[in-house]
Amino acid sequence: MTSEAARSVTVRVPATSANLGPGFDALGVALDWTARITVTTGAPPRTPSDDPVVAAIERMAATAAAALFEAAGERTDTVDATYEGDLPVGRGLGMSAASRAAGLVAANRMLGDRLGAEALVPLAVRLEGHGDNIIPALFGGLQVVVHTDSDEGHGAVHVPIAPPDDLRLALLVPEFSMPTEESRRRLPATLTRQEAVANIGRSALVVAALTQRRYDVLRVAVEDVLHQPARAALFPALYPLIEAATEAGAYGAYLSGGGSTVAAFVSPAQAEAVAAAMGRTAAAHQLQASTRVVALSARGTEVVDG
Ligand code: HSE
Repeated sequence: MTSEAARSVTVRVPATSANLGPGFDALGVALDWTARITVTTGAPPRTPSDDPVVAAIERMAATAAAALFEAAGERTDTVDATYEGDLPVGRGLGMSAASRAAGLVAANRMLGDRLGAEALVPLAVRLEGHGDNIIPALFGGLQVVVHTDSDEGHGAVHVPIAPPDDLRLALLVPEFSMPTEESRRRLPATLTRQEAVANIGRSALVVAALTQRRYDVLRVAVEDVLHQPARAALFPALYPLIEAATEAGAYGAYLSGGGSTVAAFVSPAQAEAVAAAMGRTAAAHQLQASTRVVALSARGTEVVDG
């Protein structure tokens, strides 16, 4: 791919919600809220977007694509990316993972899909640092992810679960962002055995609840002592929002990824009422935010053109 003619591949990539409460770095699900990213090689370099958010997304996608070309032993003159969509950045909806997944899948298509989808996982996890957003972004569905980092590199074992079709997520998306790296630095370095047991059991219970459609246990299952308490220090309205969602009929609610979005598992019938209740609580806390109801999606990153 040296001195090549310009070539573009466009992919559709989903937002993702990670952790699902207690499953820190281990559980994530793709959402039916998507963006399009086009990766182009061999064209004159583009001027970065004036919008710093768009510029950051495009840079992450292009960097991921370039990393895949390098890993495959291919040299490219220029790699650029363009973004179309309304996925918010820094809100715990996996925008960095979506950008990187898009770059990897588009670059792989340019290589004639030389690498199988699973072969993208080590690079995806290395770029992202954790797999609970990027693996559902790549493959879709609800993914159970365990990192298998070793001296040889980054890896992950993951198993998909078909997302239930009778469940929605009501999202409260604040205007303020919570950069993941910054909030991860605030997390406790150690847990007591009691705390570890609480999260291990609940993480398994989330999977059991979603596979067996036992939504009645989700309220307990989504409780967390590993990351939400520390992150609530940055986001005082978090627990009032979770409480408002459950009082309005949600099965359970949690901080999506590293925040700031609060996600509530709901039935389709309750979805709008729960979203509205979270919206009122946000307003009562002087929190600028929007709401959205999304379905869980079995679809990961897909090439739509090229
Ligand atoms: N598991 C990651 C975290 C997800 O909580 O930091 C980030 O979206």
